[in-house]
Amino acid sequence: MRTANESTKQSLDIIIIGASGGIGQYLVRVFSKTNRIIGTYHSGSPINLEGGAEYFKVDVTNLEEVSNFFKNIGPSLSMPILIYSAGISPNNITLKISDKDWTNTIAVNLTGAMYCSREILPWMRSLNYGRLIFISSILSRIAISGTLAYSVTKAGLNAMAKVIAIENAARGITSNAIALGYFELGIINTVPKKFLNNCVIPKIPLKRLGAPDNICSTINYIIDSDYLTGSIIDLNGGIISK
Ligand SMILES: NC(=O)c1ccc[n+]([C@@H]2O[C@H](COP(=O)([O-])OP(=O)(O)OC[C@H]3O[C@@H](n4cnc5c(N)ncnc54)[C@H](OP(=O)(O)O)[C@@H]3O)[C@@H](O)[C@H]2O)c1
Repeated sequence: MRTANESTKQSLDIIIIGASGGIGQYLVRVFSKTNRIIGTYHSGSPINLEGGAEYFKVDVTNLEEVSNFFKNIGPSLSMPILIYSAGISPNNITLKISDKDWTNTIAVNLTGAMYCSREILPWMRSLNYGRLIFISSILSRIAISGTLAYSVTKAGLNAMAKVIAIENAARGITSNAIALGYFELGIINTVPKKFLNNCVIPKIPLKRLGAPDNICSTINYIIDSDYLTGSIIDLNGGIISK
């Protein structure tokens, strides 16, 4: 079995699902300095990198596309890290949520994560190495009105990380989630500035949004530790969740 310390010395195969998003693009930029990057996008555009990342257009809700993607990259993997960062966040209170918003949110945030995990695990198990990192949310831990579908999927993602962790613990594979608070990029741009300044930031003990490098250092920590598995890491500037 290969250890995490060995992994830090080698170039990793970092697969970013949602590489076209705010967080995904940031991760591509940072991790491409020393690793191979394989990124997916759907309706947006990933960033162009000199020296290149390998990009694939994949709708995570489409099993055939997900399956073909992993069949394509699987044989070339050596030290695979899967970062599941695809996500959508429709807003509506329970009384008004549409069937379409509910179904799409489950499909992208949760079913897509299951498809990607199920497709990559055989490759990871054959290598006796792997890291699954699910980008979850503080909304999996605390209740905010108008976030039903999103919150439910992120709570599901936390459970997914834990179950996959115990099922694969003997194979050098770890599985963890990072429950992000409010960060200064990506999906947060859909939240009105006034609401952020008046209602969100005052409730963060550190009194600021999270910086992207906090996400990166947490991912590095997960990659480097072969004893951290089945954990949900709260990265939220001190907001207490129960
Ligand atoms: N930013 C924050 O403060 C924050 C806080 C808590 C949690 N998060 C979580 O962090 C993750 C990344 O968020 P972000 O801020 O980077 O959001 P973002 O900028 O909106 O990016 C979302 C990503 O999801 C992808 N995606 C959406 N539907 C897809 C589909 N059907 N198939 C494949 N990919 C699809 C998008 O691809 P295309 O654009 O190419 O369609 C994009 O790459 C999300 O899971 C989000 O819930 C973010």
